Amino acid sequence: LDNGVGRTPPMGWNSWNTFGCNISESLIRQMADAMVSTGMRDAGYQYVVVDDCWFNPSRDSAGNLQGDPTRFPSGMKALGDYLHGKGLKFGLYEGPLDKTCAQYFNSYPGATGSQGHEAQDARQFAAWGVDYLKYDWCSPTGTINDQVATFAKMRDALAATGRPILYSINSNSVHAKTGPQRNWGDVANIWRTTEDIQLSWDTGQTNGYPMGIKNIVDVTVPLAGYAKPGGFNDPDMMEVGRGTLSDAEQRSHFALWAVMASPLIAGNDIRSMSSATLTILKNTRLIAINQDSLGLQASSIVADSNQRVLAKRLANDDVAVALFNQSSSTRTISTTASAIGKGGSSFTLVDTWTGAATTTSGTITASVPAHATVVYRVSGGTTGNPPTPTSGTLVSASS
Ligand code: DGJ
Repeated sequence: LDNGVGRTPPMGWNSWNTFGCNISESLIRQMADAMVSTGMRDAGYQYVVVDDCWFNPSRDSAGNLQGDPTRFPSGMKALGDYLHGKGLKFGLYEGPLDKTCAQYFNSYPGATGSQGHEAQDARQFAAWGVDYLKYDWCSPTGTINDQVATFAKMRDALAATGRPILYSINSNSVHAKTGPQRNWGDVANIWRTTEDIQLSWDTGQTNGYPMGIKNIVDVTVPLAGYAKPGGFNDPDMMEVGRGTLSDAEQRSHFALWAVMASPLIAGNDIRSMSSATLTILKNTRLIAINQDSLGLQASSIVADSNQRVLAKRLANDDVAVALFNQSSSTRTISTTASAIGKGGSSFTLVDTWTGAATTTSGTITASVPAHATVVYRVSGGTTGNPPTPTSGTLVSASS
């Protein structure tokens, strides 16, 4: 979406994965403080996104949304001011239908979705200083046509406010019915590619619930052709630092999100994370690859049940190569400079985890532990033809 924001994938933190509806202004302020004290803000994490359940179950007498009076007693404008005062940006959640997901599924009271209030709510968000709207379709009913029309209504309402607001949408269960993803780049800055990420590696499913990290990668890789500045596939908030996944899996998760030009939205409790988690989230080499100004999502070079090789061309003509071991034992994974679009006979490979540099005349190879991902930044040689991004199937608005 060409609205001036989201030219690179957004980075930030979101309340849902760890806290669900159990949120308050003091919690969000603590997260903002932690974004600063941990160095995450300075590493590029900007948006603090307050997900579902921030609102009063009833609108005021003029039909305006209001923050929950007990949990957000200072009001939403004050929260936005606090975040802006820390050099952060304010993200907020709403839904396009009559109810938000928590109202629909989690017995949160009220029916305060934006349906019929789009212009009023967009103006309210702008007045509160909102910089990012997560807009979450929560009903198993509806067609892709309904979604296009409904999501576009809020896109236009946000544009009419004159405030640059990053627009994040989620089709939720309508995915299951539409099969291959629509390219939502005409409607939103980021669009979810699956239903909610689960704290697991591989559930064996590539549709509906529950999907783990590897499954979400399987679904999102083929959509690479959609990514560009202003519009990115969104494989959901990260599960890094939330337990259960092995160290290799957490590093793979982050590395794959980085090369897929995915939003890097942390979902863990950043007030109390381990130094190992913070080291993953603050990997500056991977963040630079994710935030590259070309805005390309890595193309699939090799994909079989044991391994994936992905290549992402970068603005300075370097290419990032991910060697992802999907199998359950250590494997040597290899590709070549020419397969990733490089010509010439001498290249430097920088390992984005260790910083170690090696040279090669063309072979790109690593011994990769089970479920791990090695990412090299490859420089040197001529640029040659970069890999062509693979494309998903466009689902037209009439299907
Ligand atoms: C469904 C979304 O996919 C989640 O990320 C979260 O926003 C919940 N809804 C909130 O109810």
